[in-house]
Amino acid sequence: MSTTAIVGTQWGDEGKGRFCDLLAEESDLVVRFQGGNNAGHTVVVGDEVFKFHLIPSGILRPGTTCLLADGTVIDPRVLCSEVEELEARGIDTAGLKVSGSAHVIMPYHTVMDRMEERAKGEYAIGTTTRGIGPAYADKAARIGIRVWDLIDRDRLARQLALALPRVNVLLEHLYETETFTVDDIIGQLEPCVKIIKPMVADGRALVMDAVANDAEVLFEGAQGTFIDLDHGTYPFVTSSHPIAGAATLGTGLGPLDLDAVLGIAKAYTTRVGAGPFPSEAFDEDGDRMREAGAEFGTTTGRPRRCGWFDSCMVRTAVRINSASSLALTKLDVLDGIETIRVVTAYELDGELIDYVPSDPEAFARCVPVYEDFPGWMEPLEEARELDDLPEEALNYIEAVSTLVEAPISAISVGPEREQTVWVEESDEE
Ligand code: GDP
Ligand code: IMO
Ligand code: MG
Repeated sequence: MSTTAIVGTQWGDEGKGRFCDLLAEESDLVVRFQGGNNAGHTVVVGDEVFKFHLIPSGILRPGTTCLLADGTVIDPRVLCSEVEELEARGIDTAGLKVSGSAHVIMPYHTVMDRMEERAKGEYAIGTTTRGIGPAYADKAARIGIRVWDLIDRDRLARQLALALPRVNVLLEHLYETETFTVDDIIGQLEPCVKIIKPMVADGRALVMDAVANDAEVLFEGAQGTFIDLDHGTYPFVTSSHPIAGAATLGTGLGPLDLDAVLGIAKAYTTRVGAGPFPSEAFDEDGDRMREAGAEFGTTTGRPRRCGWFDSCMVRTAVRINSASSLALTKLDVLDGIETIRVVTAYELDGELIDYVPSDPEAFARCVPVYEDFPGWMEPLEEARELDDLPEEALNYIEAVSTLVEAPISAISVGPEREQTVWVEESDEE
């Protein structure tokens, strides 16, 4: 029995949800440990497409417990509508638990997110406007509302009375918009509170118990390494830590409790929102990736920026996350491209480097050095084993693995569950 964290090694949307759904088949507990409904995880099961924003993708596996852990931020109305939608589609959500220690995205947080973006003008981050940043800011400022507070009317009224004066000053005087009262908010959230209350658990105790009992536990990361609050391209980042370390931080486990980390890397690179992107392809290759890969945001519908695979980024992410192996996703999107480019180094102020510099302005000055690989002309979507892949694809996979200094344990060639090639572990070392 073991614990495995799934994390994004780029800027998000690498295909974490589809791998979480696959590994959840063998899991007792699936845990979201950070972020909120800024995530958009698509899982395709036959003719059905599920788009998860908050609920762990493991919910599709009957009998699996799913937890929104301490480190997440929860919009009660979104949680209730996801539950309702899943139930209407015949998915049993009885196994869903919500940690009392998770923070709540309040109605004013989404307003503040929109207003802050508007106020930043050309320096806007391009957030999902779901209130993520303001909710985490209040958490750090110690005026956040937790799920423990949400489900107890007196506690909620007390905490809101502490938070609202400050919030209302900003809303009224800085953003010149409507303010909130304690009663408004309690009234608005009441119907959701009834639905959420029975799901509330001591998240830390639940996860610790699962680990102590040798259960199979899967941690579903959201977002990607390079929008991490500390390690991403600040300020063009999210407000949580989408890296493997947060799977312990956000749940209450210790750093040695993780047995494996599966990094998810797309066979090319995408980014939603503003910020540096050295390998961005502004030409027809970028357009082709966007069309073939259907690269439009699951949460906001925005076209994703597309570019070539950047091995400096993924190599850096392998280290940040202690990734034990990688899943290389969406390889089929590169079908029919004659020459596939991979970033192998950057030229930064006249010097060659092979990692992502921590100063985002230095990162923005990085000029990619590419190596070109011959592409494959046949479709990969039917491949189920390595032997089914053409030589050019095998060479590409091997080159990526060597460059990023990590074994590749799986490759996906389409969004469906079965469009996955598992790579046997080799005994040579
Ligand atoms: P996540 O946020 O990391 O879970 O990724 P998203 O779900 O936002 O984006 C991945 C998109 O690619 C989804 O629409 C998936 O259905 C789709 N997808 C996942 N794996 C593959 C693949 O191997 N090939 C293709 N063509 N699409 C894939
Ligand atoms: P998944 O889990 C891609 C980006 C936003 C914006 C920045 C900050 O589907 O990979 P936020 O609303 O979090 O304050 O926005 O982070 N972003 C994502 N980009 N995939 C995601 O999630 C993202 N979640 C946030 O576009 O640039
Ligand atoms: Mg996504």
